[in-house]
Order: sequence, then C-alpha cells, then structure tokens
Amino acid sequence: MKPTGIVLSATLLSIASSAVMADSARSPHVTSLLNISPATSLLNVSPMNSDLANRGAYIARTADCMACHREDYSGGIAIETPTGNIYSTNITPSQRYGIGNYTEIYFKKALQKGRAPTHQLYPAMPYPSYHGMADADISALFAYFQTVPPIEMPPEKTTHLPFPLNIRTLMLAWNVINVPSTKNRAGLTQTQQRGEYLVNNLEHCGTCHTPRNLTQGLDKEKYLSGAPLGKWYAPNITPDNDSGIGRWSEGDIVTYLRSGLLDKRAYAGGPMAEAIAHSTRYLSDEDLIAMASYLKVVPIIKTDDYLLPVDMSRLPNPLSSSITYNLIEQKDYLAQEKSATNAGSNTNNSPKALYLAACASCHGVDGYAQPDARYASIVGLSSIRRVKPDALINVIAYGAKGALNTAPKMPGFDKELSHAQIASITNYVRVNFGGLPSSNVSAADVKRILK
Ligand code: HEC
Ligand code: HEC
Ligand code: HEC
Repeated sequence: MKPTGIVLSATLLSIASSAVMADSARSPHVTSLLNISPATSLLNVSPMNSDLANRGAYIARTADCMACHREDYSGGIAIETPTGNIYSTNITPSQRYGIGNYTEIYFKKALQKGRAPTHQLYPAMPYPSYHGMADADISALFAYFQTVPPIEMPPEKTTHLPFPLNIRTLMLAWNVINVPSTKNRAGLTQTQQRGEYLVNNLEHCGTCHTPRNLTQGLDKEKYLSGAPLGKWYAPNITPDNDSGIGRWSEGDIVTYLRSGLLDKRAYAGGPMAEAIAHSTRYLSDEDLIAMASYLKVVPIIKTDDYLLPVDMSRLPNPLSSSITYNLIEQKDYLAQEKSATNAGSNTNNSPKALYLAACASCHGVDGYAQPDARYASIVGLSSIRRVKPDALINVIAYGAKGALNTAPKMPGFDKELSHAQIASITNYVRVNFGGLPSSNVSAADVKRILK
C-alpha cells in the first residue's frame, strides 16, 4: 500500500490545487473591468420570487457561484489542474442534467462537505470555504435554485481524469486534513464578524490570496498574505503597511471591490477582475464595508514582496489637461514622440522607444491611457510598484484579458520582445509611472521569472 499512498497524495495535491487555478481558467465570458459601472440592481433578483429565494439570489452573488458555473448555471467551465481539467457541472433544477433531484439535505452536503448524492466532489468546487456557510443561507440558496430556469442539456465538457485520479473517494482523505479551511476569530465587532463570514465562507478570498501548504490546503499561518496564481499573483491583502494594504482606508477597499479601480494605486486585472465582475460589485454597501472592516483587523503578515508607497511627487502628471480624453491629440503626440525617439526602428532599443512602440498606443505616452476606450491607466498601480517585478513582467509577456466580453484585451509580447527588451520596458514603466527611484531588472531576471 505504501507506494500507492504516495501516488495518491501527489494526486490529491494536484487536484486540490485546482481551486486556485479556477479563475485564470474559467474565461470564455470574461473581461476588463474598466468602465464597469457599479451594478444598480441584482440581476438575479426577481419580483416573481419569494423573499427567501431573492435572498438566495444575493447569496449566490456573494459566493460567486456564477464565476465557475456560468451566469445561467449550465456549467462546463474548465478548472485547470496540473493533471487535467475539472469541469463545473449543470446546477440548474433540470432533473436529468442538473440538480433537480437534490433535496435540501443533499444540497447542504454538497456545499459544506463536497458530497454529491452519488459521488465525492473534487475541491475545485470550493466546499472547504463553503463548509462554514450558515444553514439559513443554504436554505435561501436552495429556494433560489428552484426558481432558476432549468437547462435541459449536459455541459459541453465533462471531467475525465485518468486512473487513479478518477477515484473520487480519495478526496475523503484530503478532507480530513483540510476541511474547514479557516477558524473564526474571537473579539471581533458584529460588523467584522459579518466581514469574516463573507471573506472566508462566501467570497472565499483566501482560495486565491492565501498560500497553500504541503497538502494543498490553505496555510492558516500565512492567511491572506499572497499567493501565486498561474500567470498572475494574488498579492498580500493583510494590513501590513509595506507589503500589504495597510495604507488603504476602509473606503479605499470598498471602492476597489465595487469598481476594480483605485486611482493611482490599484487596478484589478485578470482573476481579480473576474471576482469583482461576477460578485463583489453586486454586494450591498453594508457588506462591502463589513469586509473592509474585517480586512483591517486580520493578523498583519509582512512578506518580502513589499510595495513602495505612492510618492505623489514622483508620479508624472498628464502631458496636458486634455490629452487623456482627446484621442486625436493623444495619437498626434505619440506620432511626434515616436519620430523624435525613432521608435519602431529595429535599431532603437532605448527604453523609451521600446515603450512607445509596444505600449503607448494603448497606455498613452504619459501612462494615463485612454479611459474612454477602456484602456487602463497604469500610473501608480501597485502591480508596478512592487519590489518583485514578477507581476508586471508576466503581464507584459502574457497580456491580460479583461473581465467583461466588451472589454479590450492586452496582447502578450513574449514572442515579439526579447528578454532584454522586456527588462528594459519593465524598468522604464516602474521608474516613470510607478515612481520608483530606480529599477534594475535584467534580461536574466526576466528569463527566470518567465521560466
Ligand atoms: C492593445 C492595447 C494594449 C497594449 C499594446 C498594451 N496594453 Fe497593457 N493593458 C491593456 C488593457 C486592455 C489592460 C487591462 C486588462 C484587464 O482589464 O485585465 C492592460 C493592463 C495593463 C497593466 C495593468 C495590469 C494589472 O492588472 O495591474 C499594465 C501594468 C500594463 N497593461 C502594461 C503594459 C505594458 C508595459 C505594455 C507594453 C509592453 C502594454 N501594457 C501594452 C491594453 C494594452
Ligand atoms: C471555484 C469554482 C466554483 C465555485 C465558485 C462554485 N462551484 Fe460548484 N462546482 C465546481 C466544480 C468544478 C464542480 C464539479 C466538481 C466535480 O466534478 O467533482 C462543482 C459542483 C457543484 C455541485 C455538484 C453538482 C453535481 O454534479 O451533482 C453543486 C451542487 C454545486 N457545485 C453548487 C455550487 C453553488 C451553489 C455554488 C455557489 C454557492 C458553487 N457551486 C460555486 C466549481 C465551483
Ligand atoms: C480568483 C482569484 C481571486 C479571488 C477569488 C480574489 N482575489 Fe483579490 N486579487 C487577485 C489577483 C490576481 C489580484 C492582483 C490583480 C492585479 O494586479 O491586476 C488581486 C488583487 C486584490 C487586491 C489589490 C491589492 C493590491 O495591492 O493592489 C485586493 C484589495 C483584493 N484582491 C482583495 C480581495 C478580496 C477582499 C477578495 C474576496 C472578496 C478577493 N480579493 C478575491 C485574485 C483573487
């Protein structure tokens, strides 16, 4: 039995890690957050529904079910794992293809324990977080799912993992170690307790922001202190001033979770844009404030990926008062600068010429971009002010797809630009738009980070 044990645990690890990868993978309908206006109504709340079902619709938003099961709950979104894709299932009330035969007790077991009536679920479904979901919320969710239009079709794709990964009961062993993934803290105000419940049990923020331990469970000692996420990095969101979000006010956190933007400080791209687009922008002010209030009191963890505070005096001003919104002025100015620096010629490898040739058509000569065309301003963003340039280098190499399907995408430059050129642009962006006094990323650093 011993050798098998090793294979199995390796297997469990990779499957368990799938929850982390979910968001970078589940992308067919995703987008850039720029210009997403705060949702004015809850799309899933209907006057036809009972109060209980409408409360359930709101809980489905707070628990981000749509991000993985699609907006119509028909399923089929791939959750990438190192050993193969796990696909979300149809959770509409179809008796044949969905969860129409579930009783409330089954529903509760699926959410809290990962037990479907006939099989054990993989933790790609975040039941370790939903484990702490309140009974009243589960009842409301169950009432809501009865009102969802049934989809009488199986998802386009279903999970087929090779032996022995297809033995779902192995998950039971993993569960003993890792469920539940968080414990409630003592001494919180009522608002903070609500925030704790939202952050840990509904929104499952930790599935991305908390690093994993050896068995791929969430490492409670490093709660919310930042974790790699495929080609992205979910940063430290504990209240440490240097490496976390200690300098953000509660109001800043609320604004960011509502809109994905915090002027000259943060912009939500990639997986975070999805969490905001599908979930947090729909939340009530009260709930966003509760999360912000809780995030201000979680244990402070200092990490080595610290952040230079925005030094407003080092950040550039827009080139003129009109250029950010006047696209023609912006285009003319770019053409002028390009000929002045000879940008685009094969011989000019100066950092500014490279930036003008590769980036400025979208992000502007001055970094303030074109908000009207939904391109992100990059001035002062936390992702370009970190001591570790990894996040910025990954974005330059692999691009970023926005979180709503009308949003523009940023192309990746890993094929077009050499490591030395990516290093050069990285340094240029960090110093000129991030306010860093200096930046010395080398071609070798880029090579190591993209490996
Ligand atoms: C075709 C237009 C386009 C070009 C060219 C482009 N970008 Fe982007 N960039 C975007 C869009 C759109 C986003 C927002 C994507 C999203 O919402 O996830 C973005 C996002 C970013 C971000 C923010 C990422 C984050 O989440 O913090 C940075 C930094 C960035 N780009 C840098 C660059 C650099 C440097 C270059 C040149 C190598 C470049 N971009 C070229 C369109 C572009
Ligand atoms: C991070 C992605 C993710 C999120 C968020 C998520 N699910 Fe799932 N869910 C999955 C995956 C993947 C499966 C299939 C797992 C498997 O095949 O073992 C699944 C399976 C299920 C099942 C079992 C269905 C069956 O096959 O019998 C139910 C019920 C379910 N989810 C309900 C929900 C509800 C309700 C929510 C929101 C409260 C939710 N899920 C949120 C990924 C997710
Ligand atoms: C699907 C994975 C995922 C989930 C779920 C998620 N995040 Fe994030 N988060 C990220 C990534 C990736 C970034 C970096 C985004 C960027 O730089 O464009 C981020 C960025 C942030 C930032 C900005 C930090 C900074 O210094 O710029 C905050 C604050 C944040 N997340 C809070 C939350 C909260 C609160 C939740 C739960 C409601 C949450 N996140 C859920 C992946 C996630």
